[in-house]
Amino acid sequence: MNIIRTIEELKEMLQNKNRSVGFVPTMGSLHEGHISLLKKARLENDTVVASIFLNPTQFLVGEDLDKYPKKDDSDKKICELCGVDYLFMPDITTMYSKDEVLVKAPKISSYILEGETRPGHFDGVLQVVLKLFHIVNPTNAYFGKKDAQQLSLITQMVKNFYLDINIIECEIVRESDGMAFSSRNVYLSQNERIEALKISQSIQLAAKSIGNGELECKSIISKMDKILYSNEIEIEYIAIVDRNFQILEKVELENTIVLVAVKIGTTRLIDNIWV
Ligand code: PAJ
Repeated sequence: MNIIRTIEELKEMLQNKNRSVGFVPTMGSLHEGHISLLKKARLENDTVVASIFLNPTQFLVGEDLDKYPKKDDSDKKICELCGVDYLFMPDITTMYSKDEVLVKAPKISSYILEGETRPGHFDGVLQVVLKLFHIVNPTNAYFGKKDAQQLSLITQMVKNFYLDINIIECEIVRESDGMAFSSRNVYLSQNERIEALKISQSIQLAAKSIGNGELECKSIISKMDKILYSNEIEIEYIAIVDRNFQILEKVELENTIVLVAVKIGTTRLIDNIWV
């Protein structure tokens, strides 16, 4: 595996136009969720590029940019074991200059749910992903359903900017007790980790209710609310949307995502299920 720090070097390495390139962008601190994306990219492409870049523009003031977990050595090992050919690890000055042209996420769909509590977050995500797409020029780019709104907005960006890239949606990977893997799980104390289990339990209950024929979103949300009710959990939102992130009153089978965002102590966690 080659570790690449500059854009010029990576572009030179990827010159061969006849090979498919699979790309997995990340912010590092890799876990089983990332590993599943890397393995899928390895299976489906001739060349695999991963990136690790803690993108400052997608963090709001006061968020966890400064304390975001960093595990460079184990990240490199993981990428190597997953068969990554090129690991792109640029620094900030490689990725950003002063007073840049900016990407603006859509005014409505990026300012609800995640965008409501994190206004401007998706501008930063799209800015860096567009840059990375132009640097890597991938055939296939892999994103997790865990960040469902991010996935939807990136898919829209590819469409709106006529990019010739396939966005590959990857399933959420969970720990054995159901908790979705996240780089932020390390922030949780033992007790908070126990409380956090209520998140996946609430979405599993939603899926079960829907499976039993319950389609009324209000009633599903109220059941989820009861599971999540706890002194340690601050619910940011529980929402049921379609694939375009329109809020639904009734579940549309095969076209629905049940989403949860909570704060436990100072840690913000999200999860969802696609039904
Ligand atoms: P990061 O949080 O590192 O996530 C990188 C990719 O891993 C994303 O596509 C995310 O959805 C996926 N992922 C995270 N946890 C997962 C899980 N439990 N199961 C499956 N996939 C999972 O998302 C970002 O980085 C950044 O916003 C980025 C797109 C790299 C732009 O900076």
